[in-house]
Amino acid sequence: MKFYILTLFPDMVMQGLSTSIIGRAVDKGLLSIEAVNIRDYTNDKHGKVDDYPYGGGAGMVMQAQPIYDAWKAVIDKIGHKVPTVYLTPQGRTFCQEDAKSFAKEEAVILLCGHYEGVDERVLEEIVTDYVSIGDFVLTGGELPAMVMVDAISRMVPGVLSNKVSGETESFENGLLEYPQYSRPEEWNGKKVPPVILSGDHAKVDAWRHQQSLLRTKERRPDLLEKAALSEKDIQFLREHE
Ligand code: ADE
Repeated sequence: MKFYILTLFPDMVMQGLSTSIIGRAVDKGLLSIEAVNIRDYTNDKHGKVDDYPYGGGAGMVMQAQPIYDAWKAVIDKIGHKVPTVYLTPQGRTFCQEDAKSFAKEEAVILLCGHYEGVDERVLEEIVTDYVSIGDFVLTGGELPAMVMVDAISRMVPGVLSNKVSGETESFENGLLEYPQYSRPEEWNGKKVPPVILSGDHAKVDAWRHQQSLLRTKERRPDLLEKAALSEKDIQFLREHE
């Protein structure tokens, strides 16, 4: 899977994505991440990429030409069109389902805006998806692009060493993940729940599922409405009102 990130701050995204699991997946050749510096494509002899907004108002607007030419260079390299995401608080909110579906693409282009926005005409020309990472405003699209790359990458086969961990985690079945424990058996006066130490896998699985139900009900009751609950689950939750 290939990510092309159109940005004015290529070092920021490359540094942020070069460590840990994503960095290793790049080293292994499972992913490639390329930051494309929009400034390299400007026709302006002073390297300018923004200008005042027509009609007035605060701030500067990123101009169409450098963004379009940077995007076109990527498309020409790939040889055909691929999804082009513009990171913006005006987009649909990114979720785990989106991460899974983008992970099936051969390549994705992520456009990071800055200043007060981007000339609408280039967005109309190149963008296939408007995506937000939440209802708050950041100073640019770089952090959201990094968030997307991370979430998508871990859904690419082989990126997570333990295949199971991508399947049992939060959201995978519409529920939050159960609590985890490691050594020692007692810490700070708190014991690991005995069922976890029982060695009875069926019991452990049942307990974990119940914990997922209770945790989701307490922390994210909105998710329970959409989760596929069995009769037994519904009964269990009723008993734990
Ligand atoms: N750019 C600025 N804020 C953003 C957000 N919340 N999501 C995506 N892109 C953004």
